[in-house]
Amino acid sequence: MLHEILYSSAATSSMTSAQLSALAIQSSESNHEGGISGCLVYHKREFMQLLEGEQDEIENLLAKIIKDSRNTNLKVIWQGPIEQRAFASWGMAFVNLEEGTKPSGIQEMIEQGLNSAQITGHHSTARELFEIIRKEML
Ligand SMILES: Cc1cc2nc3c(=O)[nH]c(=O)nc-3n(C[C@H](O)[C@H](O)[C@H](O)COP(=O)(O)O)c2cc1C
Repeated sequence: MLHEILYSSAATSSMTSAQLSALAIQSSESNHEGGISGCLVYHKREFMQLLEGEQDEIENLLAKIIKDSRNTNLKVIWQGPIEQRAFASWGMAFVNLEEGTKPSGIQEMIEQGLNSAQITGHHSTARELFEIIRKEML
């Protein structure tokens, strides 16, 4: 049964684009091996990530991420079964919202911060964010 976990967390220090690329590449490779897909978003020292895959696999990964000293204050926004993957062709799509053009429609959403009660309190808002990003990446 396929599952998804959606969470946000705070970066412990601001990450350079080189550090973020290294994390994205390593994650993508290792996720492909574990049959995990999803999308990681970074903005103003905050992360939001969607993990998709077998429940055991993504729960094990989440446990590793919780212990990872690069982030703290991790909050699970939503988790549950899914019928299909949103980011099937990606090990881990990565979007740095500080660089390049932001997908239109998300500016208002991210103003309060990815790890804010504003977004984490409404999982529909967080899901909408990934839906907009997904469409942008097609
Ligand atoms: C915000 C954040 C997101 C991460 N996402 C992933 C991911 O999708 N896949 C992954 O393998 N590691 C991810 N990592 C890295 C893991 O925390 C961990 O370093 C990695 O799985 C290697 O763990 P291991 O050496 O114990 O196998 C992430 C780390 C952070 C801080």
